[in-house]
Amino acid sequence: MAKKIAFAGPSITQKEIDYVIDGTINGFYETYDQHTKKLEKAVCDYIGTKYAIATHCCTLALHLACATLDLKAGDEVICTDFSWVATSYAIDYTGATPVFVDIEPDSWCIDPAAIKKAITPKTKAIMLVHTFGNPAQMDEIMAIAREHNLKVIEDAAPSLGAEFQGQKVGTFGDIGCFSFQGAKIAASGEGGILVTNNEELFKKAQLLSSMGRTDSQAIFWSDSLGYQYTIANLTAALALSQVERIEELIEMKRNYFKWYEARLGDVRGIKMIREKAGNRSIYTYPSILLEDSITTNRDEILKTFKANNIHARPGFPQMSRFPVHEQRFPNPVALSVEKRGISLPAALNLDKADIDFVCDLLLAQLKY
Ligand SMILES: Cc1ncc(COP(=O)(O)O)c(C=O)c1O
Repeated sequence: MAKKIAFAGPSITQKEIDYVIDGTINGFYETYDQHTKKLEKAVCDYIGTKYAIATHCCTLALHLACATLDLKAGDEVICTDFSWVATSYAIDYTGATPVFVDIEPDSWCIDPAAIKKAITPKTKAIMLVHTFGNPAQMDEIMAIAREHNLKVIEDAAPSLGAEFQGQKVGTFGDIGCFSFQGAKIAASGEGGILVTNNEELFKKAQLLSSMGRTDSQAIFWSDSLGYQYTIANLTAALALSQVERIEELIEMKRNYFKWYEARLGDVRGIKMIREKAGNRSIYTYPSILLEDSITTNRDEILKTFKANNIHARPGFPQMSRFPVHEQRFPNPVALSVEKRGISLPAALNLDKADIDFVCDLLLAQLKY
């Protein structure tokens, strides 16, 4: 059987093993949360935020963000139509309504012009995604938010270390969220983190994430409804080892992208999603669009990949078409990526020969 060429997966070294052992031996009793605290500090130091709360997963960090910003039934939140559904369900959990808008063809991130068109008197916030390691257009998005007094949540789940014009993503809006799920660049199986520079929001999120516990009238007293969203210390130990290696991991992903680009960059009908000038993509999932000139069916390509032990991913289906949602705008760019987009394998155990094999197989199938 040929080697499995996985879509995603972590780079595990002796450091990860040592940290997990350390978490097992030294992560209980009075030091029960020491790795969690170190993880929160490491992420803050790395991206340049003041506060962080590590959570069981990014979905919960996103819900915590929505709850902290008081989103509720009757509010509208402008949300990208191209993401894993966690992005929008985090809004739905609060009773607020996600209003799905289109993405930019060059980054697959939310389109600022589409945000502007979707604003109504009910709009309270913008939920954007830094898609697959590519930074969203944060200057324009923040200008719109300031003009219309909207809150901004950055879903940066797969994009730890990506930069918009020299500033790390997750640090522009009111709250940013990252994931350490197994397919992310820094992986601990499950895991997430909420970051903010706003002390008031941090304190509120902290209270919400720890069951509203204040101990104000008795030990274990809770003053308001809360959630049990905190990360396990042992998971935090593994996430910490990965965050400490983040620049090395980004370098690996960027190399994969270079190898893909060398083989696919000039091929007629293949549009590669590249970082824009002045930005840094971390290329968590290097991605391409098959333009209309290519007549090969995208799903046939994915089937051939599968038959050759290669796991690639199609574009996400539009969340606006899911049964729990209402579609207000057709969002044709998101639809085209759903139909003709491919995210290529970039697990952190691949080498150049693996990527050449993927490219050979892809190129052999292209028809015009
Ligand atoms: C954009 C985006 N948001 C949120 C999530 C949810 O992250 P988690 O699996 O840590 O809950 C993911 C994970 O796949 C994601 O890609």
